[in-house]
Amino acid sequence: MKMKKMILGIVAVTAVLALTACGSDKKADPNHYVDQIKDKKTLTVALNPEFAPFEFQVIKDGKNTIVGSDVDLANEIGKALGVKVKFQAMDFNNVLASVESGKADIAISGISATPERQKAYDFSTSYYTAQNVMIVQKSQADAYQNLAAFDGKKVAAQKGTVQENIVKDQVKGANLVSLTKNGQMINELKNGTVSGVVFEEPIAKAYVAANPDLAIVTNIKFDSSKSDSYAIAMPKDSGNLKKEIDKVITQLKADGKIEEFVKTNFELSQTAAK
Ligand code: ARG
Repeated sequence: MKMKKMILGIVAVTAVLALTACGSDKKADPNHYVDQIKDKKTLTVALNPEFAPFEFQVIKDGKNTIVGSDVDLANEIGKALGVKVKFQAMDFNNVLASVESGKADIAISGISATPERQKAYDFSTSYYTAQNVMIVQKSQADAYQNLAAFDGKKVAAQKGTVQENIVKDQVKGANLVSLTKNGQMINELKNGTVSGVVFEEPIAKAYVAANPDLAIVTNIKFDSSKSDSYAIAMPKDSGNLKKEIDKVITQLKADGKIEEFVKTNFELSQTAAK
């Protein structure tokens, strides 16, 4: 009896030791995520494709296709890792969580690498920096030349984005309307349900170019210093995955490729909108 108990005890202790060793080994192995991606031969990327020119959808050969400069960037990373790239479209407020749950390997979605988000995720070196702007109905633009004009009015921002905080902190008199879909924000602006929408400039420009009844208020300047540059999100302790991704971004930036991706995709978004 005593012997049996002792053996059971040893077995239990060994099992616990084996488990913890296995768990910490995995984390400690800097190749862990790279190996995992190479084993699957697929890099799964989370994004919210309602954000031209970075990620949006076009009809290609009768099929809905996700395109954009973030898609081009993801494909370059896939090439460097020698794997194919699979895109997972979702609402922006689920994009980061999907990296945490392992549903996606990384997220590339015009994500601002804020200090808050850096607590929970690793971020690549930044690949783009944008200013925030306000868009309004063109016919109303004269009445909305400064932030005080939005006192008591509704201003929309996409749910889960840094633009929500910009409205809260910098358009103090306005009521924030958080919406999941950017297309809905644009519709509500066009029909007057909201008076303004805050976007980063490239996205605002793409929407305004496609909707001549809208305009950017150039006199309104936001402090965008706290909204941070775009970077790729990956799980904490990404080790060599971050190294590989940083290498690709640094090279693309040096070659002026990111700017080129943004420019060609902006043009593509305009032809697609017609
Ligand atoms: N840069 C902003 C943020 O990270 C907005 C990103 C929204 N991206 C998108 N694909 N909808 O909060």
